[in-house]
Amino acid sequence: MLKKNSLQRKTIIVTGGGTGLGRSMVKCFLQLGANVVITSRKMDVLEKCAEELRKEVAPTLMREGKDNRSLQSGGQAVNILPVKCDVRNYEEVETMMKIVINKFGSFNVLLNNAAGNFISPTERLSHRAFDTVVDIVLKGSYNCSIAAGKYWIKEKIKGTVLSTLTPYAFTGSAFVVPSACGKAGVLALTQSLAVEWGKYGIRLNAISPGPFPSEGAWTRLLPGDLMKKFDPAKSTALNRLGDHQELANLAAYMVSDFSSFMTGENVVIDGGQWLKGAGTFNALGAMPDEMWNTIEQLSRKGKSI
Ligand code: HXC
Ligand code: NAP
Repeated sequence: MLKKNSLQRKTIIVTGGGTGLGRSMVKCFLQLGANVVITSRKMDVLEKCAEELRKEVAPTLMREGKDNRSLQSGGQAVNILPVKCDVRNYEEVETMMKIVINKFGSFNVLLNNAAGNFISPTERLSHRAFDTVVDIVLKGSYNCSIAAGKYWIKEKIKGTVLSTLTPYAFTGSAFVVPSACGKAGVLALTQSLAVEWGKYGIRLNAISPGPFPSEGAWTRLLPGDLMKKFDPAKSTALNRLGDHQELANLAAYMVSDFSSFMTGENVVIDGGQWLKGAGTFNALGAMPDEMWNTIEQLSRKGKSI
């Protein structure tokens, strides 16, 4: 969607960048010329992802004439760096950022994308299960945002934070309560720091995807044959799932300088899913068209069925 090299001056840290939606956004950022750091708890997953993306993205960059220097010097044409980091641990986050600065000189974008989640009636959860999800989602996001913000303010870098949320960050949702609490907290963090750090030129925004298939989400949120019973495609106004490229395009815009006057915003990209669930009479969309003639006659006469 964006012009080639739109992200050429960006060094982007993506937490949870080795799998699912994170991986797809990373691929798009690389194609647009960014340096990208992918972090999570599993180094083997990160290294495999980095290796695959180097192969997938390199032909595009070479066609576009990017990075001749590193190709000539025998280096990697695609600047992706995997770094192990558990976002729940502030010291690990600081160490990861030092490794990034050492490698790339600095960084100017953080994508808080790491998450943990599973469906369960809340009364069945242990307090440790609740902590586990909130610690990854909320504590992980504030650890990374605070560490990045302190560094950017000290170095006078006009950095950008983007966080991956979900529409239930503002509607709430049954059966994923720890995740809803965590994501709502990250939305508050985004809106609060956008105002506080605006004077430094630091922007904080969020994106709220609806259903985009990923192994991580699908196995934990739609296990077994739940998918057949609650097909998420049918819950959107557009009657389909999201395509990862659609999300990656939006994320690329949000971390680029094209969105330079946007801060404190949460952009929903869900095919109309949350609105479809919210409107009082939306369920009437399931009624066969033929029934509307009868309904109209009855409603004109003010009669019930
Ligand atoms: C109830 C559960 C549980 C489950 C774990 N626990 N899974 N309780 N139902 N399905 C409990 C455990 O019993 C334990 O409590 C506590 O949670 C910690 O579990 P561990 O397995 O030790 O935790 P850990 O190894 O840290 O793994 C974290 C995890 C795991 C969140 C449980 O699923 C994970 O690593 N997830 C990362 C990826 C992920 O979740 N991706 C999906 C994101 S999708 P006790 O009391 O027994 O010690 C997403 C979509 C949002 O966010 C929007 C969709 C529209
Ligand atoms: P995913 O592939 O499971 O992504 C979650 C990532 O978080 C994994 O790479 C995981 O890697 C990482 N992670 C978990 N705990 C971590 C920790 N403590 N420290 C660092 N990294 C950690 O699922 P996904 O669907 O792509 O989700 C990506 C983001 O999109 C999440 O924020 C999710 O809430 C959001 N989202 C997804 C959907 C959807 O439909 N898929 C919808 C709305 C929002 P490790 O296990 O290696 O640590």
